[in-house]
Amino acid sequence: MAETLAIDGGKPVRNEPLPPPYPGALLMGEEEKRAVLEIIEHKAPFRYYGPDVLKKVSQFERSVERYLEINHALGVSSGTAGVKVALVALGVGPGDEVIVPAYTFIACVSAVVAARAVPIFVEVDDSLNIDPYDLRDKISPRTKAIMVVHLQGVSCDMDAVVAIADSNGVAVLEDCAQSFGAVYKGRKVGAFGKMGVFSLQINKLITAGEGGCVVTNDRDLFHRAVRCHDHGNLREFEGGAPLLGENYRMSELAGAVAVVQLQKLEDLVAKMTRVKQEILRGIGDVAGITFRRIPDGAEDLGTSVMFFTPSAKTAADFVKALNGENINSSQMYGGAVYDAYPQVLNMSTATPEGCPFTCPYYDGKVRYYHGMCPRTEAFARRLIYIPLAPTFEDREIADVVIGVRKVAAHVL
Ligand SMILES: Cc1ncc(COP(=O)(O)O)c(C=O)c1O
Repeated sequence: MAETLAIDGGKPVRNEPLPPPYPGALLMGEEEKRAVLEIIEHKAPFRYYGPDVLKKVSQFERSVERYLEINHALGVSSGTAGVKVALVALGVGPGDEVIVPAYTFIACVSAVVAARAVPIFVEVDDSLNIDPYDLRDKISPRTKAIMVVHLQGVSCDMDAVVAIADSNGVAVLEDCAQSFGAVYKGRKVGAFGKMGVFSLQINKLITAGEGGCVVTNDRDLFHRAVRCHDHGNLREFEGGAPLLGENYRMSELAGAVAVVQLQKLEDLVAKMTRVKQEILRGIGDVAGITFRRIPDGAEDLGTSVMFFTPSAKTAADFVKALNGENINSSQMYGGAVYDAYPQVLNMSTATPEGCPFTCPYYDGKVRYYHGMCPRTEAFARRLIYIPLAPTFEDREIADVVIGVRKVAAHVL
């Protein structure tokens, strides 16, 4: 007889919640403290000038270039800012469509609209990353860029994506916000497409609270990104045409923390992958659950455990019961796709004229509705998401295994 669930009055597997999903923040310590203090002591919070510039953002950029083996990195103020800067650098604008996976954080959609282009949603498959078959079908003569999202530490099938993009002459933008250091076929993500973007927000592998990075191997795109993120300035570089940019610069405070966090990334990933492997060893045989597929050639960073239950009802019941056991879990993004966001369905832009959807340069006809990406909806509604942290000890690992097995015995 299975033990009574905590939500039915039984004893919970844990008395306290698991460590929260803030990997880099949980490992913050003396090194970050010293880095921030140094900026304050030198009165040097701005990257380009001041009484005593320490060039921490530059140092972060050079470290990212070495780490990713890519020619150019640019620190920015957030991942969302990075996506917008990259889109604009790629020349995305009024009249264009940008492909976005239907299951991702809302920033991907908003940044496309902020760049005054129209998002076109593509299904994800059982890897929860973009489905190359649907991608091929959704490309139109208006497609200017394909945004792929390496969700939760796992690379997309980049061979397939790049082949489709190349055969259609369309640029790929890799959103690596959730996957700093993820590997596909021996190479780190961010360098497969024309441009890549990273986030340093607190839920990400490494963090400076806020911040991000834009990367590319293309010098001209890099120069355009620099101008877009800094009022059109190129500062120490030369070349390219002037343009009216904005301000998405990274502060030296964020840069200093980011330098230290990047040094911790390999250790952090090693810890998280061990945690995940141990958990998978313990729940791999649970009947009725199917794990998220990891594409061939992709190496999982271990940011979370994700699996599907047979139905939306079992998924909702599973999450409720698991949380009752103090095993923090959710249906990522509420178990919903774009239909979780009325602003997407209603194309609710910030100003009433409705640009980019009503833009005279746009000759497509887009409509967002429930059921537009049915396979993605089905995956999202059956999904269980258990975020992991590098500070999980053997006790926490064992509790996740016990919790999942206990709940599965009741719910499935
Ligand atoms: C896939 C994805 N893209 C973009 C972002 C935006 O990053 P930020 O929060 O740094 O603006 C996030 C995270 O929040 C994300 O998960």
